[in-house]
Amino acid sequence: MGGFISSSIGKKFFMSITGLFLVMFLLVHLTANLALLLGPDTFNIVSHFMGTNPIIQIMQPALAIGFILHIIYATVLTLQNQKARGTEGYSKVVNSHQSSFASKNMYILGGLVLSFLVLHIINFFWKIKVTGDPLLADVMIHGEEMENAYALVAGLFIDPNLGFIYSAVYAIAAIALGLHLTHGFWSAFQTIGFSNDVWRKRLTVVGYLFAMLVGGGFAIIPIFLMLFGAK
Ligand code: HEM
Repeated sequence: MGGFISSSIGKKFFMSITGLFLVMFLLVHLTANLALLLGPDTFNIVSHFMGTNPIIQIMQPALAIGFILHIIYATVLTLQNQKARGTEGYSKVVNSHQSSFASKNMYILGGLVLSFLVLHIINFFWKIKVTGDPLLADVMIHGEEMENAYALVAGLFIDPNLGFIYSAVYAIAAIALGLHLTHGFWSAFQTIGFSNDVWRKRLTVVGYLFAMLVGGGFAIIPIFLMLFGAK
């Protein structure tokens, strides 16, 4: 087992498993965030549910561990590949012509998403979970008091001074994430064993659709709020 974990294929396997776990997170997170387009009450109810549901609370540390492992394995494999590239010469050069922009730039795209994530955690998670914010002052919805997460989140994108910049940063990060997924999605499945020709083609198509859904879905939210304002 120890040999498998430290082998190249073992590292790629764990990167794929953690990547697929993050894919599930993205689906849940996007679904919850699309409620922002439906107005304050719907988003605040969804956000209250996400913030109090015990299963979601248990999943949060697992998510953090998933992110950390994914980044560690990606870094180690990228460094190993760079070393190997120095000695492989022509075969690697030929191969690089056949691969997509995303597959050649996975580490850079992942790095962009990670940089966005630091800003993103400071913008919302940190304020909701740690410091609080005046915008979060409780509101009453259907007889229940809950934090006004809508005011905090929508407020960032409609801010008269920085709203445009934040919206652009969030939209660019969503596109980088989408590109990362165009390669990452099917590649993860291929690594865990769906590697025959039929499955590879199917998963490439599903991967592209998923990447467009996630990239487009996350990008639409700030753009919509910036253009049409908060409800
Ligand atoms: C329009 C885009 C997005 C919006 C409006 C948004 C909104 C939010 C909010 C409000 C929170 C705090 C939730 C809470 O603690 O109650 C949060 C947390 C988080 N977001 Fe996003 N998010 C967006 C895009 C993304 C993207 C693209 C990623 C991943 C690449 C991401 C990853 C995370 C993570 C890891 C957390 C912390 C864990 C959690 O609270 O679930 N978010 N986001």
